[in-house]
Formats: sequence, C-alpha cells, structure tokens
Amino acid sequence: MTFKKNILCIGGGYVGGSTMAMIAHKCPHYKVTVVDINPTRIAEWNSNNLPIYEPGLDKIVISTRGKNLFFTTDIERGIKEAEIIFVSVNTPVKTFGAGAGMAADLQYWEKTARQILECSESSKIIVEKSTFPVRTAFAMERILSLNENNIHFDVLSNPEFLAEGTAIKDLEYPDRVLIGSRETPSGVKARNELIEIYANWVPKDRIITSNIWSSELSKLVANAFLAQRISSINSFTAFCEKSEADINEVARAIGMDSRLGDKFLNPSIGWGGSCFKKDIFNLVYLCRHYGLDEVANYWEAVVNINEYQKERFVRTMLSAMFNTLAGKKICLFGFAFKANTGDTRESPAIFIATKLIDERAELVITDPKALNNARIDLNGINGTVSYSEDPYEAADGCDAIAVVTEWEVYKDLDFKKIFQSMVKPAFIFDGRNILNHKQLFDIGFNVFPIGKPALTHF
Ligand code: UDX
Ligand code: ADP
Repeated sequence: MTFKKNILCIGGGYVGGSTMAMIAHKCPHYKVTVVDINPTRIAEWNSNNLPIYEPGLDKIVISTRGKNLFFTTDIERGIKEAEIIFVSVNTPVKTFGAGAGMAADLQYWEKTARQILECSESSKIIVEKSTFPVRTAFAMERILSLNENNIHFDVLSNPEFLAEGTAIKDLEYPDRVLIGSRETPSGVKARNELIEIYANWVPKDRIITSNIWSSELSKLVANAFLAQRISSINSFTAFCEKSEADINEVARAIGMDSRLGDKFLNPSIGWGGSCFKKDIFNLVYLCRHYGLDEVANYWEAVVNINEYQKERFVRTMLSAMFNTLAGKKICLFGFAFKANTGDTRESPAIFIATKLIDERAELVITDPKALNNARIDLNGINGTVSYSEDPYEAADGCDAIAVVTEWEVYKDLDFKKIFQSMVKPAFIFDGRNILNHKQLFDIGFNVFPIGKPALTHF
C-alpha cells in the first residue's frame, strides 16, 4: 500500500508512543513509524505487553500496528524515508556541570539533531514535540543548516499537553493544538502541513498558531501554572489544619467562581510526574540566565511548597504515631504519581517511602499498576520493604495506611475487614482525601486527612 505521508517519531516514550498511536488511528492514509534507541522499549511496543500503561492505548496500538503504525530501532532508515519528523526524546534535568539540577540536559536532543542531519537525503519538516527550553528551535535550525546537500529543514514547535492516565482522551479531544513556526513562506507552508495532519480529527478552531518562541514558552508556562495551582491549594491545607477550616469546602467555594474554575484544586501530598518540577526548574534557570531573579524566585517557591507538603505529610504521620515509627509496619496505598498510570517519575511516594525508612518503619507497598517501577525506585534502599498487588494483604498486620495515590479501587474497600487485620490503634493518613473519613472513624480508625481536622479516638 502507498501512503500519502511518511511520518517518523524519534523517541518512543509516553509522549511519542501515545501521540503517534493516535495519529495512526485517525489517519490510516499516513504511515507512522516510531523509532527508539532502546531495543527493549521497541520490542515491548511490538508485543502484547506495551512499555507504558495508559487506559485505551493498547486497543489503538493493536488495531493499527503492522498496518500503518510501526515500531523499529532502524533510526537511519526511518529518517531517510520520512517527510515529517517528530522529535520526542527525553530532556531530563542536567545532573552535571553548569545548571546541574536546574537546566534541561539537551544531549539526547542534540544527538538527534545531528543524526537527522547525517541521514537525511531530502528536505524535511522537524517538529519539536518534547518540552524544550525556549529558543531550542533556533539551535536545531543552526545544526540542521550545516548540511552541504542543499537540503532544507523547517523546524516547528508543537508541544504536547496530554496528561498521563487520560492521554487517549486528551489526544482525541484536545483543548487546543499549538503550532509555532517561522513566518517565512517555507515556515508557513510547513505549519500548514502539520495543521493538515491534526485537521483529520481536531476541529480547526482548536488548532492555534504562534511564533516558535511563544509556542516553546507556552508549554513551560502551562505546566508552571498547573503546578502553581496545586501548590496554592496545598499551601492552604496546612492553614486549614491549624484553623479547623476544611480544604475541600474551601476548594468548592472558590471553584464555583467562574474566573477561577473548579479543576486542579484537589489537595494532595504534593504533585509529581516527569514534567512539573523539570519544567519549572527549566524556567527558573532561564529567568536567572536573563537576570530576572524576582521572577525566578517566584516560580521556585511553587516547587518549595511542594517539597514542604511532602515533608509535612511524613511529619504528621510521625507526630500522630507517638513520635516513633521504628519497627512499625506502614502500608502505602499507591505508588504511582497519580491514578491510572504505572509511572512513578517524581512520585511523592518515593520521598515518603524514603523518609519512612529513615525513621526505621517497615513498608508494605501496594499499587494496581506501579509495583514494577516501585521496585526499581526503591532498589537498594536500606530497610524492609515488601510489595503486594492485594490491598487487603498489604494492610494485614500494619499499624498505619497512607493513601498516596488516588486509585478508585481504594474507595470501595471493605475497611471493617482491613481494620480487624491491623495492629491497634490503627491509623489512616489520607494523602488524597478520597476516603469516607467519618465512616473510617466510626469503624475505629484514627483518621488524618489533608487540610481538615483529624478524627481521633484519643
Ligand atoms: C502534566 C500536565 O497536566 C500536562 O498538560 C503536561 O503535558 C504534562 O504534565 P501529568 O504530569 O501527566 O500532566 O499529570 P497531571 O494530571 O497534571 O498531574 C500532575 C500531578 O499533580 C500528579 O501528581 C497529580 O496527582 C497532582 N495533582 C493534580 C494534584 O495533586 N491535585 C490536582 O488537583 C491535580
Ligand atoms: P516522555 O515522557 O517525554 O515521552 P520518555 O523518557 O518516556 O519521555 O521517552 C523518551 C524516549 O526517547 C525514550 O524511550 C528514549 O529511549 C528515547 N530516546 C532518547 N534519545 C534518543 C535518540 N537519540 N534516538 C532515539 N530515541 C531516543
């Protein structure tokens, strides 16, 4: 079969894999190829056990794979054949040299740019899909212009706004698709080609365009605003616990103001995930680079409050349980950074588990999808940690349960049965406020929600 377009994505992670699966699903007339340097990842994409858990993704992959969606490690061939190349490689925070701990590590990105340059035999459109620092497209253009074969590359910025756990819905019905381009005739032509791809399923009024730098910056700003909103509500959980106000009542009251809206106001043990911290640090680093220290400090505070929130949660556990956790068995309900994903990158669970182990507690971890990653994250930790898929088995014989991830399944457990199997006095620390606290108290638990008065029997 001949295809109308050959699309390549370099980097088959959460973003690349899911986005390309959606393009292949919506555009059977395009050939979509995903390449990755990691052969295990590619083998998993080609198996029935996909490398990531994302509700609805397996169905789309299975229906398109081998027809117009292909996963391979042959990057060179992929580049040669493609007319449009999405770049979706990882951009972790730098761990060495200038900007260590803050700036984006661009080594994977630069390798990719040089590889595109080396392997290309015809002109191409290059689409920045991963989140990059502002003005990365400029560096990309500079590298790609080094070719001597008269090949022309147009670089576009097309940040992905999907959230894990809802990626398929977010990709199918995006709030907006943003495309940044140069305003040159060739830049506009490239932009129109990318618009044409999305227009296969996204209404035209949801596809917006801007200059490249605004597009790159918008992605960082969107994530900074989202994280700021959670840090804001979380900062008031501490206030509520002191003043006997109830954070959920406050969130409802402010969320009904149409100027504020009711989304992203769920109090928590702190936000996690691969994007928020990395993107804010990236912004903070750029602000300092431009001499904008006040702006940098403002956004850095969003991360600081998040660290404080995680620490506060552990402090509450320690003080509630008579200031000693040594030898006590604590069960973590959830390890993923949010529900409906197996991803544990920057999960608050990692911090909480480490701190509890420092206090010499014994941990039992349960999670429907993240236990493999939890084992990797806590590998080599100096303490006793065990894992169980079954929350009843995990809680059996424990002194306390800490709800870390808001999985639906935890709401409907038989807590009477769980209470009977636990050491008394039994504690529940609900780090997501998803349980029925009054009911738990009536069963006999000492209940410590986030941002509300504790319900205790002593
Ligand atoms: C985020 C952005 O939402 C997405 O647009 C971007 O493309 C990538 O980063 P993601 O990290 O996958 O997506 O998940 P998100 O739903 O934003 O949650 C991030 C963290 O915030 C999670 O730890 C979640 O539990 C926490 N959170 C979210 C809260 O604590 N309270 C809320 O009200 C919402
Ligand atoms: P994200 O959540 O942004 O999708 P991931 O870390 O899940 O990030 O995925 C990035 C993917 O990019 C990984 O699978 C990694 O192996 C791949 N990758 C990194 N560098 C290259 C490269 N030079 N060529 C091809 N793939 C790469």
